[in-house]
Amino acid sequence: MAVEKDRRSFLGFALGGFTAVGGVAALGAMKGSWDPLPSVKAAGFTTVDLSGAEENVLNVEKWRGKPIFILKKSADMKANDRDIVIGDARYHVSIGLCTHLGCIPAYFPKDQQFVCACHGGMFDASGEVLKAPPPKPLVIPPFKLDGTKLVLGEEGEEYKKMKTAGLV
Ligand code: FES
Repeated sequence: MAVEKDRRSFLGFALGGFTAVGGVAALGAMKGSWDPLPSVKAAGFTTVDLSGAEENVLNVEKWRGKPIFILKKSADMKANDRDIVIGDARYHVSIGLCTHLGCIPAYFPKDQQFVCACHGGMFDASGEVLKAPPPKPLVIPPFKLDGTKLVLGEEGEEYKKMKTAGLV
């Protein structure tokens, strides 16, 4: 009987040990998932190099979970105070959500227009409203220029000037 009792005690300890180790490992894994990833901490900012952009080709980036439209304007497109100017190049940059109810408009390069399929709203290549119901132009996200790089999420001088002028 003493042998049987010792065996049971051993099994109890062994099982308890495995459970404790498993519990600590599980807690470690959970702790890992609670901590934000380094990429998440840095995700407030998105840097996009505009030097490779092609005229009249819409690039869609992602910033804080939102689509960001970046359109390098061609010479035949009307200049606008909302344009981001780098050297001789002009860019339209906006949050790619319709200002009516938030659908994502599509860009039609031939017409140089954004069209929102939800209720037929239209914007020109500068994000200005061509056709209601959108009540206002596409919104310009906070940005900073760093050479040919666009840093989304930071308010640089150019953005502050636009903001003061009520253009964003
Ligand atoms: S959401 Fe775009 S027109 Fe209504």
